[in-house]
Amino acid sequence: MIEFTNKILFVGYGAVAECTLPIIFKHIKVPAKNVTVMDFENRAEKLKKWTAKGVNFVQDRVTRENLGALLGRYVSAGDIIIDLAWNIDALEILQWCHDRGVRYINTSTELWDPYQGLPDNKPTTKTLYWRQLNLRRLLAKWPVKGPTAVIEHGANPGLISHFTKQGLIDIGQSLLADKKLKGRKAEEVAQLIVDRKFNVLAQKIGVKVIHCSERDTQISDVPKQVDEFVNTWSIEGFREEGTTTSEMGWGTHEKELPAFAYQHKEGPKNQICLARMGINTWVRSWVPDYTIHGMVVRHGESFSISDQLTVWEKGKAVYRPTMHYAYCPCDNAIISLQELRGYDYKLQVNQRIMNDEITSGSDILGALLMGHDYNSWWIGSDLSIEESRRLVPHQNATTMQVAISVVAATMWMIENPESGVVVPDDLPHDYVLDISKPYLGRWISRSSDWTPLRDYQNTFAGYNRPDLDLKDPWQFKNFLVKDGR
Ligand SMILES: NC(=O)c1ccc[n+]([C@@H]2O[C@H](COP(=O)([O-])OP(=O)(O)OC[C@H]3O[C@@H](n4cnc5c(N)ncnc54)[C@H](O)[C@@H]3O)[C@@H](O)[C@H]2O)c1
Repeated sequence: MIEFTNKILFVGYGAVAECTLPIIFKHIKVPAKNVTVMDFENRAEKLKKWTAKGVNFVQDRVTRENLGALLGRYVSAGDIIIDLAWNIDALEILQWCHDRGVRYINTSTELWDPYQGLPDNKPTTKTLYWRQLNLRRLLAKWPVKGPTAVIEHGANPGLISHFTKQGLIDIGQSLLADKKLKGRKAEEVAQLIVDRKFNVLAQKIGVKVIHCSERDTQISDVPKQVDEFVNTWSIEGFREEGTTTSEMGWGTHEKELPAFAYQHKEGPKNQICLARMGINTWVRSWVPDYTIHGMVVRHGESFSISDQLTVWEKGKAVYRPTMHYAYCPCDNAIISLQELRGYDYKLQVNQRIMNDEITSGSDILGALLMGHDYNSWWIGSDLSIEESRRLVPHQNATTMQVAISVVAATMWMIENPESGVVVPDDLPHDYVLDISKPYLGRWISRSSDWTPLRDYQNTFAGYNRPDLDLKDPWQFKNFLVKDGR
């Protein structure tokens, strides 16, 4: 346990915050009276157990107009804001925290109104990449790094960056143990592992594609009702990221851009976006032990992992893996999305985040690193609903993976108060994993011979023209689910 005597303000008390609060008290020795929870909904009843111990609840909403005045009532220099709300402009809240010496953590980079200017804006301007470049411009103006702000540190983005690093080490060590690497190359890889030079390590061991592959198998005996969106985490958060441009880190091995792809003109240009919604962009992916169809919903990790794993030579990116999310949500969310498509993306009137009504299932979330001598390697968490309830009663497996990541990063922030704005990839992966693993259920790190073509079948062979690259399984076109496959 680490001690913290300053104040903590939670902004937003939804699914993730409800799971985070009890774990904070398990790992951080902070007086309950120093913790304030804010939500515009009345969460008094839900918070009863905690307010009885001294936690304060305020029913209020952070807006563009009141941000400074409202936050200033509850936190000042040395304190921490845990932002688990949605659509609070990241640049504004980061600037405010920077100016006042307040530390800050969130799980996604958001805007006041993500729907503003749609649908006329160019796809590139609607991207998370665009937001990241704006953030870089803001940070470039600051003369000092200032108080630590960890952005995008949930499960994905968040833990997935740490899974990826550990996966690269595990693949390297396994290649060495299996004598698949010899002579100088073996020595080089061993040294890269010691030096934690993850970009060159990924290049040397031949990783070409990385998916954040997730299958949520949590089901319930309360069926989704007509005109109801059911999920295991924020419905507003999912709708926002899913109904806009699909984005991915774009690998240097890729031979051709997919249809409707747009490239960026500024910055590291490590990403592309598609003029097509993430929830309508499906790829083949794999979790232990089966193939899934997942959606390329945009996420911060596609930017940060592909950026940090790029190898640059004389200003040219000579190596970078393709990196994106491949999300197969819970069955109720899949049918909710189908209804949403039918409604032309107008959100269902009723919404429900499943919790106590879940009867079985797990959140299987990991990094699938592909293209090397084993073909694929999956590393991550298989967390069952039973195990999450054992850890924190009334919580589901999805929010648990996010919550422990928030707690681990908050602890790191307490120990490292002046690191400025950082992304998950900037944190030591072993520190975060040591704290998180006891909350992640079954830990898996192992190889698989899976490729997107391994189980390929064409029912209409000879009568359609599947656009595949049979010579190089790791081309994006082989993952993309299209007509004829
Ligand atoms: N990185 C990850 O792995 C990951 C995973 C899940 C969720 N998330 C993100 O975490 C955030 C929270 O997710 P959740 O599932 O708990 O969502 P939720 O919808 O269950 O909860 C959000 C809560 O914040 C409150 N809120 C929203 N805006 C507010 C404001 N301006 N002021 C005060 N309260 C406000 C809402 O009333 C709600 O209670 C979302 O941004 C979501 O996208 C990230």
